[in-house]
Amino acid sequence: MRIDIITCLPRLLESPFGDSILKRAQDKGLVAVHVHDLREYSTNKHRTTDDYAFGGGAGMVMMIEPIDRCIQALTSARAYDDIIYMSPDGERLSQSIANQLSLKKNLILLCGHYKGVDERVREHLITREISIGDYVLSGGELAAAVVADAVIRLLPGVLNDETSALSDSFQDGLIAPPVYTRPSEYKGWKVPDVLLSGHQAKIEEWKQEQSIKRTKERRPNL
Ligand code: ADE
Repeated sequence: MRIDIITCLPRLLESPFGDSILKRAQDKGLVAVHVHDLREYSTNKHRTTDDYAFGGGAGMVMMIEPIDRCIQALTSARAYDDIIYMSPDGERLSQSIANQLSLKKNLILLCGHYKGVDERVREHLITREISIGDYVLSGGELAAAVVADAVIRLLPGVLNDETSALSDSFQDGLIAPPVYTRPSEYKGWKVPDVLLSGHQAKIEEWKQEQSIKRTKERRPNL
């Protein structure tokens, strides 16, 4: 899989992809993440990528031209399954959207800033809009990192058996059961006996019950 992220603040994306699971996935060649600095596609001498809004109002608007030039450069090199604009008014990210995106080959994630992008970008250049929740971030970069993380960890070979994405919360419509590690007792707080029993069938049954109980309590809508 290949993910291209278009941003005017590329440094914001250095650390999410430079560490841990997302870095290992790239090192293993399971995903290629390319971050593109929108300024490099600006045609003016100050390399600006935003301008005042027509009709006035607070906040700058990201210009269509650098975005179009960057998308053109990418789409002329390969076909993309989706060109996604990160936006608080997009479709809300869910595990099922992450699953769906993990089956794609090439994705572009476009990060907005300021008051957003020129509406013509949304009308003509993108195929989809995704939000990571009903709150407004100062830019789409953190949202793009969230989407990329949720997708990349699902790619075959990224997680090992122990951390397999199949046992994640939401994957089967249930929240994951609680987990414990040593010591089996701390300040008088004990690990449930069944987990120490060595009786695998009982342990599985307990995990399933806990998942159902948690889901009912915390996410009855699931
Ligand atoms: N950009 C700003 N806020 C956002 C959000 N909640 N989701 C996705 N992109 C955003």
